[in-house]
Amino acid sequence: MTKLYINGIEVEIEQGASLLEAAQQLGIEIPTLCFHPGLSAYGACRLCVVELGDGRLVSACTYPAQEGLRVRTHSPRVRRARRMLIELLLSICPSSKRLQDLAAEHQVERVRFAVRDERCILCGLCVRMCAEQMMAHAIGFVNRGYRRRITTPFDLRSDACRRCGGCLYICPVCEVRCQGVGAPSAVCGSCTPPAPTCPPVYEDLACYMGATGECGTCVRGPRTPDSHSPTVAGRREKV
Ligand code: FES
Repeated sequence: MTKLYINGIEVEIEQGASLLEAAQQLGIEIPTLCFHPGLSAYGACRLCVVELGDGRLVSACTYPAQEGLRVRTHSPRVRRARRMLIELLLSICPSSKRLQDLAAEHQVERVRFAVRDERCILCGLCVRMCAEQMMAHAIGFVNRGYRRRITTPFDLRSDACRRCGGCLYICPVCEVRCQGVGAPSAVCGSCTPPAPTCPPVYEDLACYMGATGECGTCVRGPRTPDSHSPTVAGRREKV
């Protein structure tokens, strides 16, 4: 076991656990965007930033708990850093409900950076979901720097993609939400066979832009009370 101090409170946690897990064990809430307990930690968004005793700012989801470590999760420096990060994230995804909620929570009232509306914060959750939970490896990162984005190999519809909707489910900013029949992105299935992009399980995943499946190509007719599943329509068939 490893003993450390978070906000002055002693906590013991298994060897190899992260600072985020240690804080969660104490019931201390640290905001996260790119972290999911069922996936490997990636450290992309930095929103889980915490301050160590020596003044360093580190991401709690990737930093291992160490013996005797002193950690502050809500110091003035940490709060300032989180506000700045939320501002930066909002500048690339201004219409994200999740980011807007975070901004309100952290008293971010304006965005001082040029707004680009890229609808993706490159957190990599969809890539990890596809690889680690769905074992499909159908999508990944391409390019570097400001040209970095997520897509299928060669921007073509991937045979490895089973249209499970896992990427859609996990996306914190809804970049891969239902884009309708004219979807420009290969990541979105445009409701093509063999299976609908929006399986029944996601029928209540109401993105702030509209429920998934609203383009109507994979769902036909109203749901009956005893039917949980919308009928799968054929290729490009309209309601
Ligand atoms: S949640 Fe830790 S870096 Fe994103």
